Amino acid sequence: MCGIFGCICKADNVAPLIHTGLKRLEYRGYDSVGEATIEDGKLFVKKDAGKIDEVHLKCNLDDLPGRIGIGHTRWATHGAPSSVNAHPQFGCSSPPRFAVVHNGIIENFAELKRELEDNGHVFKSKTDTEVVAHLIEEYFIRKPQPDERRNTEPAGVSKFEAAVFKSLSRLEGSYALATISTHEPDKIICARNESPLVLGISEKGRFFASDVPAFLPLTKSAIFMRNGELAVLKRTSFTIRRLSDRRIISREPKLLDWTPEMAEKKGYPHFMLKEIHEQPESLRNTLRLQDKYLNLLTTFLDRAHEVIMVACGTSYHACLAASYMFSKISYLATHPVIASEFSEQHSKSANIDSTILAVSQSGETADTLAAVETARQRAATILGLTNVVGSTLTRVSRVYVVQQSGPEIGVAATKTFTSQLSVLSQLATQLAKKRGKISTEEIDLLEEKIKLIPEMVEQTITSQESKISSLARKFRDEKCFFFLGRGISVATALEARLKLMELAYVPSIAFPAGESKHGPISLIQPGFPVFFICPPGETRKTLMGNISEMKAREANIIAVCEEGDEEIIQLADDYVEVPRGIPEVLSPITYVVPLQIFAYRMATEKGYNPDMPRNLAKSVTVR
Ligand code: F6R
Repeated sequence: MCGIFGCICKADNVAPLIHTGLKRLEYRGYDSVGEATIEDGKLFVKKDAGKIDEVHLKCNLDDLPGRIGIGHTRWATHGAPSSVNAHPQFGCSSPPRFAVVHNGIIENFAELKRELEDNGHVFKSKTDTEVVAHLIEEYFIRKPQPDERRNTEPAGVSKFEAAVFKSLSRLEGSYALATISTHEPDKIICARNESPLVLGISEKGRFFASDVPAFLPLTKSAIFMRNGELAVLKRTSFTIRRLSDRRIISREPKLLDWTPEMAEKKGYPHFMLKEIHEQPESLRNTLRLQDKYLNLLTTFLDRAHEVIMVACGTSYHACLAASYMFSKISYLATHPVIASEFSEQHSKSANIDSTILAVSQSGETADTLAAVETARQRAATILGLTNVVGSTLTRVSRVYVVQQSGPEIGVAATKTFTSQLSVLSQLATQLAKKRGKISTEEIDLLEEKIKLIPEMVEQTITSQESKISSLARKFRDEKCFFFLGRGISVATALEARLKLMELAYVPSIAFPAGESKHGPISLIQPGFPVFFICPPGETRKTLMGNISEMKAREANIIAVCEEGDEEIIQLADDYVEVPRGIPEVLSPITYVVPLQIFAYRMATEKGYNPDMPRNLAKSVTVR
């Protein structure tokens, strides 16, 4: 799980462009960084372990010469973070002639490495990627073998390109990779299988990247590469070919409507805080979704014999909340399943009558895509909800909806969670209309409430932020928290716990409040902090009993409740208020917001960078 970026320009020195492009991809991994450029037939390289700023301070990434180059920011999968394991990786010629950057995992690298070593190649790193550089070198210098396509490459495929095609045909696993060579210094070759890769096209030159924000300030014209495709980028042109038969594919660039500012911090100290504050806007954008797409999706949901929602992490929590929405609003039973468990649970039972709703912000999460693939092989219908147009999920889905949140750079999902829920609640109301299960008045009321959510979230942030900061100061040194709720608020509790654990490194517990007396309550000692999520509604009365049970054991009760809910406020030691008027079935969208802020503030209070939680990466493209 890494970020790759590179460019070939008409006039500009590319090293500073690569450096800033990689900075925008740092959310994908940040344990090492490297760049390679070519000038006057020579490869120039800088790479080391550490975050981009640290490595730049040590060795100035900007002063590499040349108008062509590739770069990489790493999240280690094979080989510890170190200078030698940092990308680019090289073959064994000295000075080096081929450089490769790669995101993904080459599953058969050990056997390829043995084969190459038998042919005299000497490996330096512990990475899987290094085999790619050696393979390209091997195929470039090797005499034609009877079983190879060397002589059957179509016209226009150069010797370097042919070597890359042959090398890729040997790889098993996932990759978005790019390579340059001093033998043909006028081109970058990049290719994709499973890991994301997008091209940027501008007057100044050609770019490739793992994700759009990397080149957004340079161009908005983008081409999303698909699995099994290879692109050759030159200063003023590019060619895309299919890996299987080398056929040229013609694809027009798409004009993106994301501005570079959308991908920058806008004066906030961290992307996460900026993204929390962007929620009123991103939620408003979800209200602009075209009815025809929602309608199409609900038609499939309506006809389904069973609906399984698959997702990971925060997106799974959105699915869990949505399962209550579909049940309560549209009277549809759905099964939320953690994507990495899907195959064990459903690979035998999913069938042509199953409908899979895959929810993934990135649209590239390996576990979610694997679940989708398993379901596809069982002839199930795939529906998708994602934030990234052109992502793999959009291509494998029969119908998909884009949640319109704009780029989310902070590793922790915030605005994308609330947007997913806004879209899912709209789907639930549309479906209710179709099924005629609830009255028109009830549907109208829900639709009206969904429209009010952006405003409510705005009010919550404005009125509660400083209070939540004080709470974070008060509880900074606590070693564990409980997050409890009933009904749909269980999803809110789970999401709040995930945020706190991943950002502030506080191991915490979340479960349905009714379960506490079946075991967990034994942990409670005087002062133990317990968050209760208390929207008004059907669960509130029983929840009051659960609060009292905890209070009787002298827990410190922190309630997230409706503004002016005196009964709850009287019971609580601390409380945070959310604007009145949200029905319980929509409550996770507003009630999660103070809890996101709490996790953010706990992280900063403890001196951690919430944008870069340790061991994590934004887009988990390995299983
Ligand atoms: C947590 C978080 C992750 C993601 C998960 C799925 O803050 O961001 O748990 O939600 O990795 O990612 P997507 O939605 O891109 O499939």
